[in-house]
Amino acid sequence: ASAKERILEIVADCRSLEGPLLPILHAVQHEFGYIPEGAKPVIASALNLSRAEVHGTVTFYPDFRAHPAGRHVLKLCRAEACQALGGHALGDQARAMLGIDWHETAADGTITLEPVFCLGLCACGPAAMLDGELHARLDADGLAELITEIGR
Ligand code: FES
Repeated sequence: ASAKERILEIVADCRSLEGPLLPILHAVQHEFGYIPEGAKPVIASALNLSRAEVHGTVTFYPDFRAHPAGRHVLKLCRAEACQALGGHALGDQARAMLGIDWHETAADGTITLEPVFCLGLCACGPAAMLDGELHARLDADGLAELITEIGR
């Protein structure tokens, strides 16, 4: 099926849900790894929303990506409890080591750096998630190790 057909199938599966937009966007991202620009008008017209509404929702939630991710995805918690435990410095370190900013993917496609707002590990932050695996009490050495592990 073409991407558009697949998006229409996802819309058809979810449209009877109450508040179908978020489940549809999650399903689209699951399928494609990001929200393709072309998905927005398809979803908007199917749900009788404006494109601006769909676009606004996509940009409001940090979970949704506008571009395909790299082979690895490093998420660092930027919510309050982790920031209080040193998360801010880890964010600076990650950006410096990787040479990319939040939401960016390294030019060689190895890694995408994403902020996340609470991973449920607030008591033992700073918290991170690398390729779906949680890491608690991350410090500068631990972060450097994670980044080295993936060959950066
Ligand atoms: Fe970072 Fe909750 S604030 S895991």
